[in-house]
Amino acid sequence: MTTPAEIRPADGKLGVLLPGLGAVATTFIAGVEAIRRGVAEPVGSVTQLQTIRLGKRTEERVPRIRDFVPLAALDQLVFGAWDPIPDDALESARVAKVLEDRDIEPVAAFLQTIRPMPAVFDPDYVKRLHGPNVKTGRTKRDLGEQLRDDIRRFMAEHGCDRLVMIWCGSTEIFIAPGPAHQSLAAFERAMEDNDPAIAPSMIYAWAALKEGVPYANGAPNLSADFPALHELAAANGVPIAGKDFKTGQTLIKTIIAPGLKARMLGLSGWFSTNILGNRDGEVLDDPESFKTKEESKLGVLEHILQPDMYPELYGNIYHKVRINYYPPRGDNKEGWDNLDIFGWLGYPMQIKIDFLCRDSILAAPIVLDLALFLDLAARSGMAGIQEWLSFYFKSPLHAPELYPEHDIFIQHMKLKNTLRHLMGEEQITHLGREYYE
Ligand SMILES: NC(=O)c1ccc[n+]([C@@H]2O[C@H](COP(=O)([O-])OP(=O)(O)OC[C@H]3O[C@@H](n4cnc5c(N)ncnc54)[C@H](O)[C@@H]3O)[C@@H](O)[C@H]2O)c1
Repeated sequence: MTTPAEIRPADGKLGVLLPGLGAVATTFIAGVEAIRRGVAEPVGSVTQLQTIRLGKRTEERVPRIRDFVPLAALDQLVFGAWDPIPDDALESARVAKVLEDRDIEPVAAFLQTIRPMPAVFDPDYVKRLHGPNVKTGRTKRDLGEQLRDDIRRFMAEHGCDRLVMIWCGSTEIFIAPGPAHQSLAAFERAMEDNDPAIAPSMIYAWAALKEGVPYANGAPNLSADFPALHELAAANGVPIAGKDFKTGQTLIKTIIAPGLKARMLGLSGWFSTNILGNRDGEVLDDPESFKTKEESKLGVLEHILQPDMYPELYGNIYHKVRINYYPPRGDNKEGWDNLDIFGWLGYPMQIKIDFLCRDSILAAPIVLDLALFLDLAARSGMAGIQEWLSFYFKSPLHAPELYPEHDIFIQHMKLKNTLRHLMGEEQITHLGREYYE
């Protein structure tokens, strides 16, 4: 045993603030409410279902994670959102068509109570979207201050003890970090100057961190991932996590690729294509938003396979990712992967994957886990980038001198070992010689 961290208790209400009340956010909220009413199981949620082994295998100590670390319970959660589209969560869930009426109707009255606050939104950053429920302000700083007011008002009106914010908004156009992002002073000056380098998602992240609210980014746009906001998170002692929920095709990619690498099998090509017809697909049909997503999806293989270390196996991979907007499919995406691999003496083989997945069904439990784990991190005094939450992301935030860890099995072990560390339990190394001595 080591010394456990000092963790403040998870008393009172935890407000979950969601910029973006679309498919993912409404599927998350409706699901939590159904689980609270005892009519659904939290499938896909590590915090709710997974166990954690403590000590030696012979000790048989395997509590559920939620019984091991002090997490907020689902009954303590309250929800708030911003969206340029004024639909309440009920209407938005119906438009998203992720859930069937039989799952929406029992929680309809509850969903109706969640109405989006006016958004900080600018169609220059999300080209395919237009909505009237938007804030106006002279500068981006003004808009950020309005969000801070919203955060404080929400906290008071709902009697929350603590808050977390999770970006479930659309993917914004690609923006590379520039001078405005290098320090907090430069960032705040750029907000005053209405610098185009400041996208709406950055303004939300800034407002959250200013208010001491942990922030996670479920989309691939930068949002909080640059030195200025890393600096603010560290200075205010606030945890941050991101980017881009790891669902569908990339989830499968980070499950398969570590296995091929473990067996030292070669890879010459990986072609991935998707068809999807939800609003996210429509936004990603815009080349500038797609570029943000593409960057996020492409990085994964290189970091897992390490072509520099294994040039004979992975030095010449053709990796292509396509997303095609195809309305008939709605949220029910189809992702195809073709892998050209090779084995002993270079003999080629192929693997085909056809994943008929449901994006928001895979994303909703991630939102729940992130809300609860970020709150745990904040109560444990963990500030800045939470690399142990990489498990949930396609483009995990990482310290500038490190490469990101994409291998889902390493990410998973890191997550669980972080929980053991927080609670003063031994790390599990899987050495296990003592069982045979
Ligand atoms: N579903 C998944 O599996 C998955 C996986 C990884 C990432 N994501 C990302 O999560 C995000 C949400 O996905 P979705 O399927 O719910 O999309 P969606 O289009 O259904 O919902 C996004 C919502 O965000 C709103 N929005 C856009 N700009 C906003 C702003 N500035 N402020 C507040 N609201 C804003 C839109 O009006 C829309 O209602 C997308 O960026 C998507 O790329 C989703």
